[in-house]
Amino acid sequence: MQGSVTVPGDKSVSHRALMLAVIAEGTSHIRGFLEGEDTRATAAVLAQLGVRIETPSAGERVVHGVGLHGLRGTTLPLDCGNAGTGMRLLAGLLAGQAFDSRLIGDASLSKRPMRRVTDPLARMGARIDSRDGLPPLDVHGGQPLRGIRYELPVASAQVKSALLLAGLYATGETEIIEPHPTRDYTERMLAAFGWPIVFAPGHAKLEGGHLLRARDVDVPADFSSAAFFLVAASIVPGSALRLPGVGLNPRRTGLLQALRLMGADITVEHEREAGGEPVGDLVVRHAALHGVELPESIVPDMIDEFPALFIAAAVASGRTVIRGAAELRVKESDRIATMAAGLRALGARIEETPDGAIIHGGRLAGGAVDSHLDHRIAMSFAVAGLVADAAVRINDCSHVATSFPGFVTLSNGCGFDLRDAD
Ligand code: S3P
Repeated sequence: MQGSVTVPGDKSVSHRALMLAVIAEGTSHIRGFLEGEDTRATAAVLAQLGVRIETPSAGERVVHGVGLHGLRGTTLPLDCGNAGTGMRLLAGLLAGQAFDSRLIGDASLSKRPMRRVTDPLARMGARIDSRDGLPPLDVHGGQPLRGIRYELPVASAQVKSALLLAGLYATGETEIIEPHPTRDYTERMLAAFGWPIVFAPGHAKLEGGHLLRARDVDVPADFSSAAFFLVAASIVPGSALRLPGVGLNPRRTGLLQALRLMGADITVEHEREAGGEPVGDLVVRHAALHGVELPESIVPDMIDEFPALFIAAAVASGRTVIRGAAELRVKESDRIATMAAGLRALGARIEETPDGAIIHGGRLAGGAVDSHLDHRIAMSFAVAGLVADAAVRINDCSHVATSFPGFVTLSNGCGFDLRDAD
C-alpha cells in the first residue's frame, strides 16, 4: 500500500450541513459534500420539501435556505434509503413542521430501532407513528413542541441531534445529557449558523425562537472512510500511505487510539482547523500489530470503525477483547454477528459475546463472506483480502456507495486488487 489517498467527505457533516442550510436564511455553499447514496437521499428528501439545492459540480451543493418555517409538505413518502442518520435527524426536523410526512427506508433501515428518537420526541409533544418502533415513520405536523431535559439511555449522536433539531421549533429549553460524549457536529454547526447553544462534551442545551443564518461549510474527509486504509496499510508489509485532510473530531478518532494500542505506526501531520473542525493528514506505515483488551471508554469514539478493527484484530498476534459495544448490533447490520460470521468463513477464531467479541489473531484463508447489505462490512472484508492466503469473495457490495463512492477505484490505485466477481 503506497501513495496518497484522498477519501470522500464526511457523511455526518454532509447530512447536517444540508439540514441546517435548508432551514437557514440565505444561501449556503457546501464544499467537500459526500456524493454517497445516504447523503444524496437526504438531499432528495429536502428537495421534495420545496428547497432548491443546486449541484454546480460533484462534491458541491448550493442550498437556497427557506428559513425555519419555509419547508413545504408533500404527500409522497420521503425515502431515506439506507441512512439511519438521515431518517433519525429528519424525524426531529419534521416533528416541528406544520405538515404531515412519512419517512421510509430500504430493507436494512426498515429493521433499525426508531423508538430511541420517537419516544423522547413524543415527550416534547411530537406525534410520530411507527411500525412497532420500526420505519416507516408517520410524522404528524402541527404539534406544538416544548423543550425537555433528556438523559439519553444510549450514547447516540443521531438521537441527540434529532432532539436538538426539534428543539429549534420548541418553546423553552431543550437540554441533552449523554452517558458518554458523542460526535458534536450538530452543536458546532448550529453555533456556526448563528443559533445560541451551550455545549460541552456530554451535554448540550438550546432554546427555540432564534434564526439560522446561511454560511459556507467545508466538509472534511471522512475518518470512517480513512479507517479502512489505516487498517490496510498497518497490516500489509512494506506499506506507507498518506491520507490528507481527514476530519479528526476527537469523538471520531477512537480507532487511532485502538490501533496505536495494538502497535500501529500512525502519525498526524499538518493539524489544522477547517470549517470549525480539526483536520490533519494521517500517515500510516506497516507495523506488527498485537491483540489488546480494548478500553470500553473509547467504544463510542470508534463506533463505526469496529468492522475494520475486527480485521486488524484477526491478523494481529494474540487475543483482542471487545466489550461494551452492544450498539454494533443495531447498525446497518448486526455488526458483531456479520463480522464474526465473515471472519469464521475465512478461518479465523472468534467468539461472539452479547456486547462484543473475543478475536484470536492469526492468518486468514480465502473464502466467501456476506456483507448483509452493510457498506462497512463489505469494505472491511476488502481489507481482509489484502492479507488473506487466497481470494476473498464479498457477496453483495452494492451498498458500498452509501458512504464511499469510488471505493474500488481509489483502493485499486494504492495497492488493493478488487475485481467484479462475475
Ligand atoms: C452518526 C452517529 C452514529 C454513527 C452513524 C452516524 C451521526 O450513530 O454510527 O454512522 O451522524 O450522528 P448512533 O447515533 O446510532 O450512535
